[in-house]
Amino acid sequence: MVFPEYRPRRLRKNEVLRSLIRETHLSPDHLIYPLFVRPGKKIKEEIGSMPGVFRFSVDELGKEAAECMKLGINSVILFGLPEKKDAVGSGAHAKDGIIQRAIKELKNKAPGMNVITDVCLCEYTDHGHCGLIIDNEIDNDSTLEVLAHTALSHVRAGADMVAPSDMMDGRVAEIRATLDENNFHNIPIMSYAVKYASAFYGPFREAADGAPQFGDRCGYQMDPANSREAFREATLDVDEGADILMVKPAVAYLDIISKLRDEFDLPIAAYHVSGEYAMIKAAAEKGWIDGDKVMYETLLSIRRAGADIILTYSAKDAARYMQNR
Ligand code: PBG
Repeated sequence: MVFPEYRPRRLRKNEVLRSLIRETHLSPDHLIYPLFVRPGKKIKEEIGSMPGVFRFSVDELGKEAAECMKLGINSVILFGLPEKKDAVGSGAHAKDGIIQRAIKELKNKAPGMNVITDVCLCEYTDHGHCGLIIDNEIDNDSTLEVLAHTALSHVRAGADMVAPSDMMDGRVAEIRATLDENNFHNIPIMSYAVKYASAFYGPFREAADGAPQFGDRCGYQMDPANSREAFREATLDVDEGADILMVKPAVAYLDIISKLRDEFDLPIAAYHVSGEYAMIKAAAEKGWIDGDKVMYETLLSIRRAGADIILTYSAKDAARYMQNR
């Protein structure tokens, strides 16, 4: 079919026709909202490089969760800033650790909220790396047990889902085995399966105070140049028992999301990360773009690429935008 018989504009004539043939949809159902939790009381402090995103003390979480649920956002992922950091990240699995208390608070104040936890050590180690250090190396195998222990402590506190983001080899299998041994076989694992060593995490490292104190994360996170390797990483995590596969970051890696969508039948999540959020906010603040529209279009592009789920700091803004459109 060619012009003039075929005229694509026929079906763009009005909004009814456009919505009739719309291929991709975005709703608050698809969104996960990240929450940063810090020590103290009655604290809601804005993160400098992430306008509109806050660190909350535990007692403030109930209010925030209620606001999310009112907007139709029923899933959050938690990141914690512990009171103290040490070389082995003890705060990550402490019984009364910041995340463990946050989970209990949320389950108490907003029982309907789906509480997901980020499982990693970088916010809890004084060196800021995602694993234990042995002989100046980020040691893979000794880290696995600590991660599994951390995931278990989250679930014991009431977490509904765990999301390992450390990128150690074999961690999904270790976490699955530990949860199953403790009768938590119904808790899903959303694996950060394909996580790149990305400069787009900059603002997050300020937000969660987890920048590595030496070196970088290139020895465990993926090389941004690699695409075939994403398939191998995802395959490993599927075989180890992951329930949801995540790609991170999202926008600079839409090709990877699309590829995983084609190759795997598990649900795919994409993390629209801090730098991706901050760039849109900054340009909008300058009046150079319409922030809400660009944000919505960006989230839509992530869905169009094939993501079922999007983790984004703009979840609340996007939900409001969708309500008012
Ligand atoms: C922890 C973790 C990071 C992010 C999510 N979990 C930081 C990192 O790996 O350096 C980044 C999220 C973002 O930038 O929004 N490992």
